[in-house]
Amino acid sequence: MNAEQATAIVTGAGAGIGRAIALRLSQEGYLVIVADRAEDPAAETVAQIQSAGGAARAEILDITNPAATQALIDGAKGLRVLVNNAGIFDVIAFDNLTADDFRRMYEINTVAMFTLCQQASRVLPEGGRIINLASRAAFGARNYAHYVASKAGVAGMTKAMSLELAARQITVNAVAPGVIETDMLKARPEGLEGMRVQQPSGRLGSPEHIAHAVAFLADPRAEYVTGQVLIVDGGRSVGGTAAF
Ligand SMILES: NC(=O)c1ccc[n+]([C@@H]2O[C@H](COP(=O)([O-])OP(=O)(O)OC[C@H]3O[C@@H](n4cnc5c(N)ncnc54)[C@H](O)[C@@H]3O)[C@@H](O)[C@H]2O)c1
Repeated sequence: MNAEQATAIVTGAGAGIGRAIALRLSQEGYLVIVADRAEDPAAETVAQIQSAGGAARAEILDITNPAATQALIDGAKGLRVLVNNAGIFDVIAFDNLTADDFRRMYEINTVAMFTLCQQASRVLPEGGRIINLASRAAFGARNYAHYVASKAGVAGMTKAMSLELAARQITVNAVAPGVIETDMLKARPEGLEGMRVQQPSGRLGSPEHIAHAVAFLADPRAEYVTGQVLIVDGGRSVGGTAAF
């Protein structure tokens, strides 16, 4: 491993979008820390990176534990990029939602992300990057108000934080995926075909589509892009499949 190789942390990199981001950042030359609470999936991501010739190691933690996230940051020598990808999702109609459902969703999707951003911001160098996974749902969706609110929180926090870190030449952006084919979709009742027909392109997104957006924001040449929420949804947020 190159002693000067920059490090990227990707949370939730044991599956879906996080795994694709980890693989892509490894191809971009980073030593990738695959942070996940699930041990075997994280080991599988590390194995895939290594067999492609990249450098990676796993860190097993629950991102809602601030001592564990601090240890993650402390152990990430040469940290340049933090990708806050780990998140949860479920479907509960508004009428049945409880305050505890809201708290559980916020704890992982929003509060843990805040903690990691703050801890990382204290060690990131000039040129550092924070990239948060929001969601197109942050702009409104039915049957998961707690998820929508948690991701709207991510989008707002990203914008606010970008202003406070700009003078240190650290950019903070979010990527807001539309419907991306991962295990997370299993919680949705429409089924893959039901989701696909709502896409203007007639296609669901892939984790690699999101990884490409993250790689763009992580690139040193994206230094003047900050405080943005980049929607990657095949045009779904512009319009559905209806004629008007
Ligand atoms: N799949 C989509 O359509 C979609 C759309 C919009 C936004 N997103 C967002 O993209 C991100 C990744 O989604 P995905 O579809 O790949 O999800 P996924 O469920 O396939 O994978 C999530 C990963 O995060 C890990 N994780 C969850 N909670 C954790 C915790 N507390 N500590 C450590 N690790 C934890 C899981 O173990 C898993 O490996 C999420 O933030 C999600 O909200 C996904």
